[in-house]
Amino acid sequence: MAAMKSPFLLRRLREAGYLVRAAASDRALAFTTETALAVAAGGAVATDARWFAAAGDALHIDLARWADLLVIAPATAAGLARAASGLAEDLITATILAGARKVLWAPAMNPEMWHHPATRANVETLKEWGHAFVGPEHGAMAAASEESGLGRMSEPETIVEHVRYHLTTKDLEGRSFIVSAGPTREYFDPVRFISNPSSGKMGYAIAEAARDRGAQVLLVSGPTTLPDPWGIEVVRVERAEEMYAAITERFSRANAVVMAAAVADWQPAHTASEKTPKKKGVNMVELVPTPDILAELGHRKKPGQVLAGFAMETREGRERARAKLERKNLDLIALNFPTRSDSAFGSDYNNVELLFANGHVEATGRLSKRAVAERILDHIHELLSEKEAGLNAEQGKTS
Ligand code: CTP
Repeated sequence: MAAMKSPFLLRRLREAGYLVRAAASDRALAFTTETALAVAAGGAVATDARWFAAAGDALHIDLARWADLLVIAPATAAGLARAASGLAEDLITATILAGARKVLWAPAMNPEMWHHPATRANVETLKEWGHAFVGPEHGAMAAASEESGLGRMSEPETIVEHVRYHLTTKDLEGRSFIVSAGPTREYFDPVRFISNPSSGKMGYAIAEAARDRGAQVLLVSGPTTLPDPWGIEVVRVERAEEMYAAITERFSRANAVVMAAAVADWQPAHTASEKTPKKKGVNMVELVPTPDILAELGHRKKPGQVLAGFAMETREGRERARAKLERKNLDLIALNFPTRSDSAFGSDYNNVELLFANGHVEATGRLSKRAVAERILDHIHELLSEKEAGLNAEQGKTS
């Protein structure tokens, strides 16, 4: 079953912009076809039969030198065993031995086989050599057996995320980020609340991009339908006050905070403990302001820390966003235009203007939310380095 997903993985990798070449063992070709792999990869498949060419070329050397990353998906228990014992009897294990730069395994096997001490030992050996793993995950095994457990290959989309992680320069290594995302819900009784249509996609994109660049990330998320991203500590909250508590508690240890959450500005003054029955006529709900998290962080900000916020304005965007940047003591604010069609709530794209404390303004144009996230992180990286250099110079003067 997992082998049948290999062509999809190749396709997803190409869609993500990677150059791919496919290699398949004879055993893999019993489960998927060479044609499917060749079409998905957009080129010939390296097979055991073509390992050595008449001209004297050897594919294992060529592949090992060509690829930045060797992804083995699906990886069997036998494949892990051959690699861990250096048994280069097929093209793929020979490619590993021939000096593949980085190896990512996506195992798929029966849970008993995955948990067997032999497999455990092989995985440990490979990890010690710097090999990386994605999955296996919990789920139903091959259709014929009724079993479920840890052994299912990760989905192609998840494998692509891990590929991106392993191929991204870790320029934010050693930095810790707090990112907020999604809406908040301000309840006036146990089942009714005030909220907004934020999907959380922008904040999650920032958190994932920071993770891929090596940062340690805490994602404080309001209610969203998005799954918890891997490799990120996620704290789920509902109300602005909970978000305030989760972020302020950790703020002093963070290098940078990006407030992408659409925090509700108002909360009901009282939350009824029971559902409020319907009444005839006009109903009044008294609202009081929620704590302004970003303003509080701006107040507490220490010299080395970077603070970024978002502004959503329907008119006088730049003036209002700049006023917010100053009032909340931010280094950078991303100005959203909710009424523009290319930056709508829930979209995978955004189009923002970045305003900086030094007066500089930069328009991103329409980009994927991931690309906007990368742009924001480029600037935060630069700001952190500048602040650090400034602090070092200060220290130099005083010592
Ligand atoms: N924000 C926050 N806490 C709040 C409200 C907003 O931390 N209670 C953050 C948001 O995450 C965003 C930024 O502040 O990064 C701007 O939010 P916005 O609601 O547009 O700003 P306000 O200062 O509330 O201004 P106004 O609603 O008057 O435009």
